[in-house]
Amino acid sequence: GRVVILAGGLSHERDVSLRSGRRVAESLRSTGLEVDLHDLDADLLPFLDQVRPDVVWPLLHGASGEDGSVRDVLGLLGLDYVGTGPRECRAAWSKPVAKATVIGAGLRTPEYVTLPQSLFRELGAQPVLDAVLARLSLPLVVKPTHGGSALGVTLVRRADQLPRAMVDCFAYGDVALIEEAVEGTELAVSVVDTGDGPVALPPVEIVTEGPYDYDARYNPGRTEYFAPARIDPAVLDRVRDAAVTAHRSLGLRALSRTDVILEKDGTIQFLEVNVAPGMTETSLFPQAARAGGYDLASLYRAIALGPRH
Ligand code: DAL
Ligand code: MG
Repeated sequence: GRVVILAGGLSHERDVSLRSGRRVAESLRSTGLEVDLHDLDADLLPFLDQVRPDVVWPLLHGASGEDGSVRDVLGLLGLDYVGTGPRECRAAWSKPVAKATVIGAGLRTPEYVTLPQSLFRELGAQPVLDAVLARLSLPLVVKPTHGGSALGVTLVRRADQLPRAMVDCFAYGDVALIEEAVEGTELAVSVVDTGDGPVALPPVEIVTEGPYDYDARYNPGRTEYFAPARIDPAVLDRVRDAAVTAHRSLGLRALSRTDVILEKDGTIQFLEVNVAPGMTETSLFPQAARAGGYDLASLYRAIALGPRH
């Protein structure tokens, strides 16, 4: 079989995607598959047309990869690809739509509001932020509704930090999601489905001194990971169930990663889901797979050759 991995792209997470792509390509090659790594550029369509790969694995993070648009094009070309379809990607890529969907499936998610940047221009910043503070209690997390790798995300402890957080957020997108910060253990739960239905891998616990931001994510040693998490197994089973519920309710395929906060009282708060989870050397999905006893290369091979569109 011949696999084309798409990596790079033009999103803010281009570098992360290139690192993910290289890792997965190496792993797949080690299982004997023929693998090409291709960027999202002008040569791509002629290349795909010429090669006609058995499957394309879009390892593009951020816009065009996770928003479903590249998958739309792959569908038009009649090519099989790994993972979730375009419509479901669009839903999952929107944090508010994902939250609303999983609430409908019985999960909890922190209280939130969404604010388009245009509202600030129309009404002025202060009245808008006052309305936010009347509705939600500090501390808050401000993030772009569409984004990844914690870019444009700020933890806001005091009201006077909010204006700056909005500026940072709007640098990455036109709409902000402001949610109440929940205290607890940060867990990432990867889900795989190689044909027998979605299975949650062991949740990975994330421990950082400061925020789990871009630097903490991609510089080895900056974050401590516990895989599996240091949590009562019965509680972890509920966390795994929540991730499978998110995966199913959003109609995701092949692989995903759901990020949650586990509160002290056992409440699981859904934060977001990723249809193209990072596969870099510090990323969560490969750690979860290893903790689950999987050989990474065999698992990637099973994902690449599994059921698809
Ligand atoms: N957005 C990054 C790649 C992740 O979720 O792992
Ligand atoms: Mg994400």
